[in-house]
Amino acid sequence: MAGTVTFTMIKPDAVEANNIGPILAKINEGGFRIVAMKYMQLTKEQAGLFYEIHKERPFFGELVDYMSSGPIVAAVLSKENAVTDYRNLIGATDPTKAAEGTIRKLFAKSIAANAVHGSDSDENAANEANFFFSRLERF
Ligand code: RTP
Ligand code: MG
Repeated sequence: MAGTVTFTMIKPDAVEANNIGPILAKINEGGFRIVAMKYMQLTKEQAGLFYEIHKERPFFGELVDYMSSGPIVAAVLSKENAVTDYRNLIGATDPTKAAEGTIRKLFAKSIAANAVHGSDSDENAANEANFFFSRLERF
């Protein structure tokens, strides 16, 4: 059975562009509840740990530098079929390939500065939510 939880970050480009509010509105309009949230800046070490699954990819260094370059908003979202529905709401990794109306089509600048992160499986959603939030920080 598909899980009810996913994890997202509003990435530094979208925070810098003052799009936290519009992106949270799209998340709510998409039927998601925000069950945990924090506004913070990751160190390079923390960004590297978060994206450890991409350690061997050619863009890993660039990704870690980028994700620690400015503040982000991290959040846990809840809805039926959360992971799949959120990936559909955010659109393709490359914003030039993202469908009309998706968060990345609306707000992303490039494949690296692509506005938001969304978990790609129930297992990663649980791991990513646990990386950022304790049980006391979820509602
Ligand atoms: P995310 O994990 O951030 O939700 O993105 P995603 O699943 O759509 O894409 P993924 O393959 O997991 O890649 C993670 C992030 O790495 C950056 N990236 N840069 N320069 C490149 O070719 C490249 N490819 C990926 C993007 O910021 C992507 O979101
Ligand atoms: Mg991914």
